[in-house]
Amino acid sequence: MTIRILCVCLGNICRSPAAEGVLRALLPDAVIDSAGTSDWHMGEPPYSPMQAAARARGIDISGLRARQVSAADFGRFDLILCMDAQNMARLEALRPYGSETPVRLFTDFTPESAADHVPDPYYTRDFDGTLDLIETCAAGLAASLRKAQGGR
Ligand code: 4NP
Repeated sequence: MTIRILCVCLGNICRSPAAEGVLRALLPDAVIDSAGTSDWHMGEPPYSPMQAAARARGIDISGLRARQVSAADFGRFDLILCMDAQNMARLEALRPYGSETPVRLFTDFTPESAADHVPDPYYTRDFDGTLDLIETCAAGLAASLRKAQGGR
């Protein structure tokens, strides 16, 4: 069964499009999308320093365009991954009555639980550090999905 995963951050121009690009490469059979809790950058491509940092690792996110998350997304995806607790609170406020779609912090999938959120490089300017953490979280998620499917 094809798993559908939505990655969510605040602006949908740094962390969640990077997570989308990394997960698309890692899980080629999955449906991966991303969105922001804000409408600040709707229609814009990922922030150029984020695009450059991803491109340096062979991940092309230039074709992505920002959009705002909506209540309907709870019905379109099997798993919603958020980058920090503020994203999570906003998502939970949007959750339609009766929806059981899991909303998880992406950092829940780091093996050593070293981080409790994905720092926003729009503010920290550490695009590589954020990509390192996103790659760790993505690998942890892929392993957890393989385990859930009975693989190793
Ligand atoms: P993101 O980063 O949530 O990782 O896309 C941000 C990008 C832009 C802004 C905030 C966060 N902004 O304030 O415009």
